[in-house]
Amino acid sequence: MPRDLRIALLGFGNVGRRFAERLGGPYLRALQREGVRPLVTGVATARHGSALDQRGLDVRACLRAVRGSGSLASLHFGLPVRSAADFIARVEADALVLVTPTDPKRGEPATTHVRLALTRGLNVVTANKGPVAFARRRLKALAARRQRLFLHEGAVMDGAPVFNLVEQCLPGLRVLGFRGNLNSTTNHILSRLEAGRSFDTALAEAQAQGIAEADPAHDLDGWDAALKGCALANGLLGASVHPRAVKRQGIRGLSGPVVLTALREGRRIRLVVRGERKGRHVRVSVRPERLPVGDPLAGSGPDAALVLRTDLMGEIGILERGMSVDQTAYALLADLVVVARSLTRSY
Ligand SMILES: NC(=O)c1ccc[n+]([C@@H]2O[C@H](COP(=O)([O-])OP(=O)(O)OC[C@H]3O[C@@H](n4cnc5c(N)ncnc54)[C@H](OP(=O)(O)O)[C@@H]3O)[C@@H](O)[C@H]2O)c1
Repeated sequence: MPRDLRIALLGFGNVGRRFAERLGGPYLRALQREGVRPLVTGVATARHGSALDQRGLDVRACLRAVRGSGSLASLHFGLPVRSAADFIARVEADALVLVTPTDPKRGEPATTHVRLALTRGLNVVTANKGPVAFARRRLKALAARRQRLFLHEGAVMDGAPVFNLVEQCLPGLRVLGFRGNLNSTTNHILSRLEAGRSFDTALAEAQAQGIAEADPAHDLDGWDAALKGCALANGLLGASVHPRAVKRQGIRGLSGPVVLTALREGRRIRLVVRGERKGRHVRVSVRPERLPVGDPLAGSGPDAALVLRTDLMGEIGILERGMSVDQTAYALLADLVVVARSLTRSY
């Protein structure tokens, strides 16, 4: 008899909804194979209200309720939910799935939400880069004290395994450094400049396709890449690098002629994030680099690529073709499978 895996969704936007859509299909089968049955006991949003029901919510009804300007209120059971903190304090769940917007300057209020959930004894799974970049070490320590998990595969390269790969498949190995091309908006813009489009047109395309951050300055000025660099440095190199310590240069000012001249010389300009151990310190930097065509980071289009430099395996590359909301939703499933294993082992 499978046990319930009670899931609370804090955030029900692009990623949260795609995850919910798949929870009844392929994700259900993956979780059942781990001996659990997913049960969504809470959904919280900013503008559509929240719903709590410890017997399990009808996920399809939740998806219907938030279409347009609809509300979750009719599905809610109990006193009204006053805030995200109130939701975390009251939801009956094994795991909080946190998919609220990333704040690139402070990582809040997501970091507080993770802390509250772990303190209450919930496992936390998130695609939000903020808590990972700003407070991973503290949150992991808190999770360990509470004998719970804080997992964040979706913070970098969506569901392509990065953190789980190193943690679960590369035992005894040290990551010495990394370089990555991890921001889909800048990739798209630079590829389109190579195809003769203007910077503004390429940015508008990225916005229309929904790949740009809500404030595109976060992509163009390298904030998104800096957060990912910190998440990698903190998650893979055991560092505590703060995003403000990242040497950061974005892609503003790059024009078609500059990019095309580089291409004629066999180079592609891409926004590269690097992390390197220097003695006892780890440095993270973000800047446009002229990469030889054929370099793993020099793909065209929205692909993401990461190369890890390790002591026992030399270089290991990870490539993610395209970068879509489906792939981010999959990261949540991958982490929930780890949570499910922890629950069934201690059952
Ligand atoms: N989209 C991607 O492909 C992708 C890829 C990698 C990582 N991520 C990360 O995944 C996270 C979610 O992304 P997304 O695209 O799903 O964002 P989104 O579409 O903007 O959805 C965010 C959700 O959070 C809710 N929310 C915001 N503030 C809240 C609060 N204080 N309390 C409760 N709910 C709150 C919003 O409510 P309303 O619905 O009422 O607005 C919405 O449901 C972000 O951190 C993002 O950086 C996304």
